[in-house]
Amino acid sequence: MLVKKLKETFEQYDQKEVVLQGWVRTNRKSKALGFIELNDGSCFSNVQIVYTDALNNFDEVSKITLGSALEVKGTVVLTPEAKQPFEIQATSVEVLGLCDHDYPLQKKRHSFEYMREIPHIRPRANTYYAMFRLRSVLSMAIHTFFQDRGFVYVHTPEITGNDAEGAGECFTVTCRQDDEYEKDFFGKHAQLTVSGQLHVEPFAQTYRNVYTFGPTFRAENSNTTRHASEFWMIEPELAFADLSDNMDCIEEMIKYCIKYCLEHAKEEMEFFEKMIDKDCIKRITEVANSNFKRMTYTEAIKELEKVKDTFENKDIFWGMDLQSEHERYICEKVVKGPVFLIDYPKEIKAFYMRVNDDQKTVAACDLLVPYVGELVGGSQREERYDVLEAKIKEMGIAQETLQWYLDLRRFGGCKHSGFGLGFDRMLMYLSGVQNIRDVQPYPRTPRNLIF
Ligand code: 4AD
Ligand code: MG
Repeated sequence: MLVKKLKETFEQYDQKEVVLQGWVRTNRKSKALGFIELNDGSCFSNVQIVYTDALNNFDEVSKITLGSALEVKGTVVLTPEAKQPFEIQATSVEVLGLCDHDYPLQKKRHSFEYMREIPHIRPRANTYYAMFRLRSVLSMAIHTFFQDRGFVYVHTPEITGNDAEGAGECFTVTCRQDDEYEKDFFGKHAQLTVSGQLHVEPFAQTYRNVYTFGPTFRAENSNTTRHASEFWMIEPELAFADLSDNMDCIEEMIKYCIKYCLEHAKEEMEFFEKMIDKDCIKRITEVANSNFKRMTYTEAIKELEKVKDTFENKDIFWGMDLQSEHERYICEKVVKGPVFLIDYPKEIKAFYMRVNDDQKTVAACDLLVPYVGELVGGSQREERYDVLEAKIKEMGIAQETLQWYLDLRRFGGCKHSGFGLGFDRMLMYLSGVQNIRDVQPYPRTPRNLIF
């Protein structure tokens, strides 16, 4: 039988015989008595196994190494007075897989850098054990949020002929070198997607509200704590929605995800609060109960000009692309919480964003949050055929690659908006973990490919 969470069901097994499989976290012995902390994978806490020299293999059991796989038979005994709510008094302990002595984890704390070298082992260490379950819970939060609201989940392709962001940061796809087509995708130029947006938009013109959620790839050579070459993105698209509706959706989604994770990953969040970021639960709870501010890019530039000498990049002017230090100043020092920056200069944003009446700015919204900076990037899309066509030309994009996208404007096109939430950055935001390499199971960053 599969037990969902041992911790939630143990009371019904009081004084009963159970069989448990799991991995050893600690094993200590004194004379005729020994204790194993076993993790069965069902929850963050370990189960205490008590064994005595009544076991016929007591000596063997007392030498079982950290990380070994076991099957334990024994009686559940409730221990409400003790640190752990119950323990198992073993009647038999069978070693299923002994861990060799060069096992890379010890009982002490290891550095993040060390752990990044062993992605196949690190899920067993507490921080990663908590993180990768949180990752799973957050995925569920996203799906539940959108499914409950009638959004349709669309699988957009990983291999594409379009650079959705127009930033030239694509990994090219090639066939085998000895193939008759040599380097191209069966004779066509193709790349790994940087965003599912262009491919999800047609579905918003069908189902009204849709989302895609999958891996995206960026070949930007930036070695920061917040950029990965492969990361997951949630990209909803809402027909008949303007920029303000878009921001309402983002805000509701972020708050929902926070509450969902606090409820469904309680032990994991408590661990992060204890070991990683002592304010994380308080911080995100406040965010879940706050109203996100909205500020124009122009207002943000004025704020930055006031303190420009405090930045590494002191050259503050209207039209500049904001650096992470500027974004963090706005949300951490000016607003002191999440803030939507809206109406960016059109030159620094993607071709598909709707041009505002001033002709200088576009209806974009970036959500900036303390600790992380940009968490979400979104916009109202340009639905006017002529304006979009002119923009594509102006930006030097080959129109034939986007004719299908332009045509959507001729075939029942309407006002619509959408956004992209960086899934990995959301995990950083929730947990307080400061490097994207520690929230991804197998981090993919420039010059870093383990396995
Ligand atoms: O702002 P971005 O580039 O927006 C888009 O791709 C739009 N097409 C989204 C849309 O409107 N459908 O990326 C969206 C978010 C960012 O705010 C950030 O959180 C995350 O994706 N992101 C990255 N996360 C990790 N590593 C990177 N290299 C990232 N680049 C963007
Ligand atoms: Mg962006």
